[in-house]
Order: sequence, then C-alpha cells, then structure tokens
Amino acid sequence: MNDVVDLLTAHRSVRRFKPDPIPEEHLQAAIRAGQQAATSSNIQAYAAIRITDPAVRDRLISLTGGQEKVAACPLFLAICGDVRRHRLIAARADVPHASNLEEFLLAVIDATLFAQNMVVAFESMGYGTCYIGGLRNDLPALHEVLRTPEGVWPLFGLCVGTPDQETSVRPRLDPETVLFDDVYPDDAAVLAAVDQYDRTITDWYRSNRMKTPNWSSRIQRQFEELRRTGNSAWYQGAGASFE
Ligand SMILES: Cc1cc2nc3c(=O)[nH]c(=O)nc-3n(C[C@H](O)[C@H](O)[C@H](O)COP(=O)(O)O)c2cc1C
Repeated sequence: MNDVVDLLTAHRSVRRFKPDPIPEEHLQAAIRAGQQAATSSNIQAYAAIRITDPAVRDRLISLTGGQEKVAACPLFLAICGDVRRHRLIAARADVPHASNLEEFLLAVIDATLFAQNMVVAFESMGYGTCYIGGLRNDLPALHEVLRTPEGVWPLFGLCVGTPDQETSVRPRLDPETVLFDDVYPDDAAVLAAVDQYDRTITDWYRSNRMKTPNWSSRIQRQFEELRRTGNSAWYQGAGASFE
C-alpha cells in the first residue's frame, strides 16, 4: 500500500543483535519520533532510561528472568510512565496534585505510544527491537538498580540493535476477528475465529520449530495463574493510586 504500512506489517521482534553501537543521532531521531506520538492533553507522561553500565545490564539479565539479550543488545531502554514532573510543577506552585487510576492509565498509555513510535522509527532505520515485559518481574530489585523517584513507574524494557538473526513475521488474528461493525460478535463467533487462528499459527510454530501446539493453549497457560502479584503494591508505593 505504502512504505509506512509495509514497514509496520513487516514487524517482528528481534532477540539476537550484532554488537555494533547505535549512533547517537539515530537514538535522538527515535526519541524525537517517540515524543511526537499523540499524548493525552499533551501531558507527555513518560521517560526512557538508557542503561549503559555493563554491570547493571548484567544484573538486568536475572531481573528479567534470564533474558541475556538485555545485556547483549547495543541499546537498552527502560520505559517508564512519568508523572514526576507534573507533581514537581504542582509542589512548586503549592497547589494540590490529585492522583487516581486515571493518572496511572494516562502514564501507561502515553509511555506505550512513545515507545511504539520509537520502535517504528528504529525499524525504519533497519534496526530490530524487542520489548521486555520481564522488567516488571521484580520491581523492588529493579528499583535498587534504577532508583526511580516517586511518580516514575518502570513499565517495560526495549532492546534495540542491528538484527543478527533471520525472523519471520508472526501471523496475527484475522483482521475481521478484531474489527467489528457496530456491535461485538457473540461468543460462538469469537471462538470460531480463534479456532481459525489456531490452525494458522500452528503452522507458523512448526515452521519456527516451536513446541507450542497452538495459540489457545498458549493463552490458557499464560493466564492459568496470577503473575507479578506484588506489582500493584509496588506501584502504589511509588506514588500510583488505583482508586
Ligand atoms: C509489552 C511487551 C512486553 C514484551 N516482553 C517480552 C519479553 O520480556 N521477552 C521477549 O522475548 N519478548 C517480549 N515481547 C515480545 C512479544 O513476545 C512479541 O511482540 C509477540 O510474541 C509477537 O511477536 P512479534 O513481535 O515478533 O510479532 C513483549 C512485547 C510487548 C508488547
């Protein structure tokens, strides 16, 4: 259709990188692209912390559940929701600053749009990326490393670098499975679409030598038990409110 859509639909996560460093101007261009994403009422509630210290990178491997790519990638960013500057503005003016779930959601949404624009920018420059949700595995230990102040909430990591692997595009649900006209379909239609996708992704898992039988089984396993259960308390301790 056009180069942008082609780039977006060619996305795949990259988990092995060449050691070549990323020029500073490429990082700056990606940050600018990230910042230009839409942001709720222009609040710009995000920050990226570039982790350069090799010892900290090594520590991040265990903190993210053994993901060696967080140390091996040339650029690793910790993406945070950031309302600290809003709070400092209020404190300086001696006015109240109200927090609730809405504030947390604004920061999560803003930070995610910021990060995804960066991902697209990096991919347009030929780099590969991988988000790292494992950054939330152990927020108290992560805090010892990042020492983020109240109002700054680490959400996920981002590995960036020149790909050192061939990867194929992972098929998604059919568009008609996620786009509906006027009303949401009934459960039978939803499950029929899931069955259809299971057949597609099974082929992809096989050709990528993955043991996962299908998407349904993966989803079942992923949500069988609660994970990262302490995170609600940690974010609240860092100034978030879920009221
Ligand atoms: C918020 C978020 C967190 C993720 N965390 C991880 C992670 O910790 N480790 C990893 O290898 N991939 C991670 N991924 C990558 C996903 O597994 C990947 O995007 C998904 O399987 C689809 O594959 P694709 O990106 O190649 O299309 C994450 C993706 C997102 C959006």
